[in-house]
Amino acid sequence: MSSKRVVLAYSGGLDTSVAIPWLREKKDADVIALTVNVGQPGDLERVRERAANAGATKAIVVDARQEFAETFIAPALRANALYEGVYPLSTALARPLIGRHLVDVARQEGASAIAHGCTGKGNDQVRFDLSTTALAPELEVIAPAREWSMDRDAEVAYARAHGIPLAAGPSTPYSTDENLWGRSVECGVLEDPAIEPPEEAYGWTTSPQAAPDAPAYVKIAFERGTPVAINDHALPLLDLIGELNRTAGAAGVGRIDHVESRVVGIKSREVYECPAAMVLIDAHRALEALVLPRDLLEFKRTVEQRYAQMIYDGLWFTPLREALDAFVVATQTRVTGEVAMKLYKGSATVAGRRSPYSLYQHGLATYSSGDRFRQEMAEGFIYVWGLPARTWSSAGSRPTTPTARASQVRLY
Ligand code: ARG
Repeated sequence: MSSKRVVLAYSGGLDTSVAIPWLREKKDADVIALTVNVGQPGDLERVRERAANAGATKAIVVDARQEFAETFIAPALRANALYEGVYPLSTALARPLIGRHLVDVARQEGASAIAHGCTGKGNDQVRFDLSTTALAPELEVIAPAREWSMDRDAEVAYARAHGIPLAAGPSTPYSTDENLWGRSVECGVLEDPAIEPPEEAYGWTTSPQAAPDAPAYVKIAFERGTPVAINDHALPLLDLIGELNRTAGAAGVGRIDHVESRVVGIKSREVYECPAAMVLIDAHRALEALVLPRDLLEFKRTVEQRYAQMIYDGLWFTPLREALDAFVVATQTRVTGEVAMKLYKGSATVAGRRSPYSLYQHGLATYSSGDRFRQEMAEGFIYVWGLPARTWSSAGSRPTTPTARASQVRLY
């Protein structure tokens, strides 16, 4: 029996597998391995066995897919959250969820610390550490990979010496992270931002060139900003996202090549595949454009940007994020309706939209018969609207006239 208990976020990969004996040896800790199912591929029962074989006292798997979809993805989608305008935050969103489960298990098991396999160079350490601090400031956070100075070869040697089998399957030069909201790929040749990502880096999407020659249409129904059906087929959000990842991915939709600004100051080149996220965010925006007034749309954009950055920066469990979320929810009361998206060789475009709350009035917009807009009123509107510009302009030109100049001279 060791002196302390640590709950480790366990993926089954090399880093977290090596962390188990390392925590036992270096920290004299009993390790409880926790694997959270956020929609990553693979047999998690096998992952659980791997943890036990690596020396975990206990190995737990939690299915958090529905919670991930409803409590993390749905709010992010309502906020159209895209970091730096392009990354739907798939990895970033899963971290506070995993953090919450780490804290829950730590409390149930009487552990004094949580641990994760993140290095000191990435964003994920920030997200795990900050989630833990916010939810359970009494817990210690241990990040073995930040402390040990092993390169990959040393880790493999350490694994061998401790009887940890290396993960089966072909070894790839890439480091990937996958969940319901997307797949991220880094390392290898991707570290040169001047080079186009090779086809082999992708796993979820068909190459746009090889995608079907006929477009696929999907109709997405939203209720209060949350997708509820595809092609008139009501689905729980979790299943809806899964289905859309397959349909849009097959059409080559969802590839993102991003040189991104990490929290720790590093610029990194990251490739993502987020088919469902990209289609849903575009469709959601199209519906908002139909039902929300201009000032609200504009103001919401600034909130969206801040919201996305807070997710990226690991600030999910904060009063500001929650208050912004309340604002976003308040904007969604009429974001109900349907959007048809056309998926074609890598692009997703809006093909049509309708809503019972549509602000689009044909009688106002049309240039054909049935025009109800009172054009003669525009002149007076523009006179008043332009008054500040008129006043400014005439004030600026005043000193150039001789009489005005003369009167100014007399004044001073
Ligand atoms: N750069 C992305 C982010 O910060 C993806 C990180 C991928 N994480 C990983 N452990 N492979 O969200």
